[in-house]
Amino acid sequence: MRMKPTALVTGAGRGIGRAIVLDLAREGYDIAGVDILYEPKNDKSGLFEVKACAEESGSVFLPVRGDIADLEGHGRILEEVLGRFGKIDLLVNNAGVAPAVRADILETAVESFDRVFGVNARGTFFFTQKIARQMIAQVQENPEARPAIIFITSISASVSSPSRAEYCISKAALSQAAALFADRLAEHGINVYEIRPGIIKTDMTAPVKEKYDSLIAEGLVPQKRWGYPEDVGKAVAALAKGFFPYSTGLILEVSGGMNIRRL
Ligand SMILES: NC(=O)c1ccc[n+]([C@@H]2O[C@H](COP(=O)([O-])OP(=O)(O)OC[C@H]3O[C@@H](n4cnc5c(N)ncnc54)[C@H](O)[C@@H]3O)[C@@H](O)[C@H]2O)c1
Repeated sequence: MRMKPTALVTGAGRGIGRAIVLDLAREGYDIAGVDILYEPKNDKSGLFEVKACAEESGSVFLPVRGDIADLEGHGRILEEVLGRFGKIDLLVNNAGVAPAVRADILETAVESFDRVFGVNARGTFFFTQKIARQMIAQVQENPEARPAIIFITSISASVSSPSRAEYCISKAALSQAAALFADRLAEHGINVYEIRPGIIKTDMTAPVKEKYDSLIAEGLVPQKRWGYPEDVGKAVAALAKGFFPYSTGLILEVSGGMNIRRL
């Protein structure tokens, strides 16, 4: 019997992470979902709602409590996932935070910089390092294995928003981390991809909904609509199918055409 592929998705409890889990479930993955919010009694939202939905597609979903910023906790997350599935075929680094308060770059607070950088860049970098070592061991054991890693960065890796500098800098750093891991892991047959979402309708963007509604109505996004978590979920599923074997380091923008320079 062929073993099902297994994925590890961070920030899986809502928004883009949730959609990624559900698309991977439809593709036949068993999935471990990590989130800082972990409420076993809540089946209306969060990891346990996602579990119920993923399992409707016939997948096994393992909810894992974990804070990606807490490097000390990474080993325990890995142990929990390996204890259940024995291997990780796909890592999706989706967990990320926006600044709690948008402040002009001339006023960026050290605490906010450290918090955002701690999750989006520092924590995700060291988490990936740990999972990459595990993937290398898997390939050494089974040279047919083709594990992969996907980083969810943002158009903010290259687009300037001076009212949330710490977020943009963290995503630029994460984008470079994706390129570095792609380079280093290529010799092991582990492909690494980066997805840059644009303006996606989630809890993260809820506080600035009116602002983005206006900007989209005024034509900021060529495709003239918000992105939805499912737009990113589909992109992850497309990469996870393994149809991009000679494209490690690929950057895929999911932004309704915001990548097009316009006059
Ligand atoms: N929404 C957008 O417009 C947009 C655009 C570009 C990129 N992104 C990126 O996509 C990813 C998901 O964004 P979203 O809009 O779904 O956000 P969201 O805030 O709606 O969901 C993020 C999830 O990650 C979890 N999380 C946060 N910090 C964590 C940590 N330290 N450890 C583990 N889990 C943690 C949260 O609990 C939450 O469930 C983020 O990396 C974000 O930067 C979002």
